[in-house]
Amino acid sequence: MEGFQVMGGEKIKGEAKAQRAKNAVLPILAAALLADGDTVIRQCPDIRDAHAMAEILQKLGCACVYADGEMRISSQGLKNWVMPDDLSKQIRSSIFLLGPILGRLRRATVTYPGGCEIGLRPIDLHLKGLKALGVKILEEGGVIRCDGGSMRAGDVYFDYPSVGATENVIMAAALLPGLTTVHNAAREPEIVDLQDFINAMGGRVRGAGTQVIEIEGVNALRGCVYTPIPDRIAAGTLLCAAAVTGGEICLRGVHPWDLIPVCDKLREMGCRIHEEKEKIALWAPRRLKAFSRLQTQPHPGFPTDMQAQMLAVSCVAEGTSVIVENVFENRLSHVADLCRMGADIRVNGCTAVVQGVEKLNGAKVAARDLRGGAALVLAALAAQGETLVERAALIDRGYDHLERTLSFLGARILRVKLL
Ligand code: UD1
Repeated sequence: MEGFQVMGGEKIKGEAKAQRAKNAVLPILAAALLADGDTVIRQCPDIRDAHAMAEILQKLGCACVYADGEMRISSQGLKNWVMPDDLSKQIRSSIFLLGPILGRLRRATVTYPGGCEIGLRPIDLHLKGLKALGVKILEEGGVIRCDGGSMRAGDVYFDYPSVGATENVIMAAALLPGLTTVHNAAREPEIVDLQDFINAMGGRVRGAGTQVIEIEGVNALRGCVYTPIPDRIAAGTLLCAAAVTGGEICLRGVHPWDLIPVCDKLREMGCRIHEEKEKIALWAPRRLKAFSRLQTQPHPGFPTDMQAQMLAVSCVAEGTSVIVENVFENRLSHVADLCRMGADIRVNGCTAVVQGVEKLNGAKVAARDLRGGAALVLAALAAQGETLVERAALIDRGYDHLERTLSFLGARILRVKLL
């Protein structure tokens, strides 16, 4: 087991390049199954979830090699429609594979997926979407068997714009003859990226980024070379690191328009932010101000994946900040550890009320989920003294060597082995 040892109090200062998006790479790796030829994902982040996904693809019969920041996938060998039990339990995104496996082999079997411990994460919308395309589904003892023998294009309506379910249906429909329409689709930038990737393979998907997505099935998709979009959450986390330490940062290779909700809140806290094409610079004030209210929502609302980090930042802001988590239940598990570091937070259901304190203190804490873990690192950067954040592996699920990026920007942070 590894952890991050952080000596707080150093300002984050300097320039950094954003990594590519975990939430774009995972569905793209899944969609690579649809291709007849080889696919190369350029600038693929070196994160645990991407490697876990690659391992699943290998077990399904594909060749998958990660070298020099590139993931190469040869999906011609896809022959297995049963997803490996142990791996699918580890990574929730394995559920995305249902769509592409069905698209290629017309049958798929998966164990109920795992992933972050952020409350009940049902998959009813994924299954509803696939059923609307004629897939017959049998659920038995945690195993889901899908028979796509009578699959056909059709209309899918989601009563909630689930990111993963939208992506699953796009992938399932990409090789289905006819027109599939997804109504009330999720609008996240990563869905636009999936559309762009499938179209780069020769697919016909349009409308991503809006509530209606149309997929015209094609006979075959070919491999391609593709670079996913920048990671708005990893970038937002670095902006928060500069904000919480009273520092300044210039991020390159980002899409500022994908970070509008985050920058808006950081401005409300008193940060000066300058945006240009693919670049954001932030200067933090000596003391941050509380924001009045932050509530998470599907895109283009405030992203739930930035809630924990903003909560950590608000711990040292002057005044009272209110945070409402609307997307996931049970996504405030970082609060207990922040309080151990001296934060003043009251939680009532999915609402956290943060009374800013002048200083946090170093403590021994543990990541409980990916973004909550990043929030603890942020708090540690601002805290007086030393903090040990245990379970670095959870943070490694989505951040490409976070400790290296932060050290480069002036933080005193080390990866340490724990017994
Ligand atoms: C994706 C992101 C995750 C992000 C989330 C919301 C990836 C790999 N992960 O997760 O980082 O936090 O979007 O922006 O892209 N739900 C159902 N039934 C379903 C599916 C979802 O009730 O079948 C609920 C979930 O429990 C949750 C909400 O819908 O409360 C949002 O989930 P969803 O949009 O599906 O998120 P994910 O695709 O799992």
